Order: sequence, then structure tokens, then C-alpha cells
Amino acid sequence: MVATTEYILSEVKSGVLVITINRPDKLNALNKQTIEELHETLVEAENMSDVKAIILTGAGQKAFVAGADIAEFANYNIEQGKQLSSIGHFKIFNFIENYSKPIIAAVNGFALGGGLELAMACHIRVVSDNAKMGLPEVSLGVIPGYGGTQRLAQLVGKGKAFEMIVTADMINATDAYKWGLANYVTTIDTLLDKCFEITSKIATKSPTAIRTAIKVINAGYNNNLNGYEVEIEEFGKSFGSGDFKEGVAAFLEKRKADFKGN
Ligand code: COA
Repeated sequence: MVATTEYILSEVKSGVLVITINRPDKLNALNKQTIEELHETLVEAENMSDVKAIILTGAGQKAFVAGADIAEFANYNIEQGKQLSSIGHFKIFNFIENYSKPIIAAVNGFALGGGLELAMACHIRVVSDNAKMGLPEVSLGVIPGYGGTQRLAQLVGKGKAFEMIVTADMINATDAYKWGLANYVTTIDTLLDKCFEITSKIATKSPTAIRTAIKVINAGYNNNLNGYEVEIEEFGKSFGSGDFKEGVAAFLEKRKADFKGN
């Protein structure tokens, strides 16, 4: 059982934890408390074997997350700005990217600044057709500080990333899909259904292999690692897992695998 907190709603459904950022009156902007609560929720869910995947969304039909809380950082100095970014990376953005279970962003409206950065840190993005996505930080005299300068270029390429960041323009769901920022576009009413369709596939697969795949894919984007070497190492290790024995036995015995995630 994952606790619901002031700004985070948690519900486990069909082996999936649905996390809803719940500050609709502020368009789900990420203040310090929301970041802390989201982190705690993710930490709790990591060890819950009945949770195979996570869907992350925003409360209401207007916004996924409209960014970091501007009112909260309005009077920050240089040191506080740096802290804001590094704590965010550590507790949420890098934490999500390297999480052991797939996290799907269900983008249900505005995903701006830290909101788009949050969606980009997730492994998969499903976007409703009313969504507006952008990194408008330069309009405020700052730059994206939650991984946006790096992950946007990885997803849409350097040229489009430069354009989006220096113009601060918002793009719609169709362009997000065309540019590789959205895996799927749905209506607002079918957004979660599409996410559950994806998680229903994840839930039948080996949690151990999925955890490893996330680690190895990310290794390819880490300048200090050689993704191919990490792949060789981790591929070899897979042969020592209980899930490998179960997966291969199930195939040979012509039955469905019953993975234990060991
Ligand atoms: N931080 C803090 N509060 C925010 C916020 C943010 N990033 N985004 C929205 N809000 C608040 C507004 O201040 C307003 O609060 P209030 O009712 O107490 O005044 C409430 O959410 C509703 O937003 P509002 O601006 O009235 O809605 P809108 O429909 O007119 O505009 C947006 C929607 C998303 C275009 C607009 O809210 C916006 O530009 N938000 C900031 C986006 C941004 O720059 N994000 C990057 C931050 S680094």
C-alpha cells in the first residue's frame, strides 16, 4: 500500500501504480514538497513486488505539470538555484530515468519546463491531443535545469531542441509525436487506457530482465560508460537469474512464464 499524501495521489490497479500529481489549482507545478512526496512515493514503490510499472500523470484535464513552482524560486540566489537543480536531478529526474520499473508519463495537458522535463525523464510518453509541451525557461531568464537541455536533444535531435529552447515555443501533441517526443497520442478520455495497454504487456514479462534493460539502455547515454560493454556484461548476468530459467523452461514446456523477478 503506497500512501496518498498532500500533493501525490497513489493507487495500485492491475499491477500498476498510478501516481497523480495533485495541485490542480497551481497546474500541478512542482514545489519542494511535491518533489519530496513524489520521491518518497517512488522509493516505497520500488520494493513492492506487486507493482510492475508506474503511470505518472497530473490531476485535472488542463495540466500534466506546468513546471517548477515559479513563486517558490522567485527570490533564490545563485547557490539556491544550483541546489534546486541538483536536488531535483537526484530526487526525481535522474531517479526516474534510472528507476528499476518502467515509468510511463500520461501527459494530460500542459507539460512545460519542469513538467516536460519530468515527462522526458520517464521511459515512455503517452500524450493527450490537448497537450502543449515546451521549455519556456528563457522567458523567465533561466535555462532548463531539470535535464531538459540534455534529454530534449536526445529525444528530438539537437536542431529541434535548440529551436524549442531558444524560442520557448510550445508544441502540440501532433508535433510532439512527429518529433519523437510522444510515443502515442490519444484523446484525453483514452489516455490512461493506452497507458494500461502498454503496462499490461510489461506486467507479464520478466521484471529482472526489464530492470536490466533500463540500466543498459541508459548506459548508452552515459558518457562515462560504454553501452556495448555494459550490455555484454549484463546479458551474461541474465543467464544466472531465476527469471531466465523460468522464461526458457516456460517456452520449452509451451506454457506461460510465471516470473518471480529473481
Ligand atoms: N509555478 C507556479 N504557479 C504556477 C505555475 C508555475 N510553473 N504555472 C501555473 N501556475 C499557477 C498560476 O500562477 C495560477 O495561480 P493563481 O490562480 O493562484 O494565480 C494557476 O496556476 C493557474 O495558472 P494561470 O496562469 O492562471 O492559467 P492560464 O490558463 O492562464 O495559463 C499557462 C496556463 C500554463 C500558460 C501559464 O500558467 C504559464 O505560463 N505557467 C508557467 C509555465 C512556465 O513558465 N513553466 C516553467 C517554469 S520554470
